[in-house]
Amino acid sequence: MKLDIETIIKILSFKGHYQYRQEPITQLQHALQCATLAELARASNELIVACLFHDFGHLVHNLGEDAAKKSINDHHEYRSIKYLKHLFGEAVTEPIRLHVEAKRYLCATRPNYFTTLSPASQQSLELQGGAFSSDAAAEFIQQPYAEDAVQLRIWDDQAKIVGIKTPDLEYFTQIIYETILVSNIANIMSSKFCFN
Ligand SMILES: [Fe+2]
Repeated sequence: MKLDIETIIKILSFKGHYQYRQEPITQLQHALQCATLAELARASNELIVACLFHDFGHLVHNLGEDAAKKSINDHHEYRSIKYLKHLFGEAVTEPIRLHVEAKRYLCATRPNYFTTLSPASQQSLELQGGAFSSDAAAEFIQQPYAEDAVQLRIWDDQAKIVGIKTPDLEYFTQIIYETILVSNIANIMSSKFCFN
């Protein structure tokens, strides 16, 4: 389904009051914290937008707000990009698509990483396939945007702080529109070269 960006922002705003999985913050607070961490690290606009929308897929399924409690894997990483890929390039959609596998990668390659995860995230790892084998981890990180997905994942894990103040959604809309514009220009340029 192709939703315009205004509708996608409204969904994040209105459904953002949902609890973020089994964490003590809301979906919107989590998204804003993740995007803020990316901006503080001077990440690209594309990666900031990826952080903002990486869990959009949790908001657009009909599995119920308690899907996580019922141990249902909503495959949110794929649901998210279904709604975003007509607006943004792969620098946004690929880190989102890969951010769940990035957790499996980090569990395989960083000895203490698993213990730093919240209980909810440790629990969902099993649903998501568990830690990668060393071969699978090596294959994963060779994919385009896999490094960005790993970085997104690290901010994702950190973006669960109760009571922290962040810029609001309105603040990030300028970055969202700039990122769409850059993506549109890239599409125009590539189609122009196709005709030559
Ligand atoms: Fe997340």
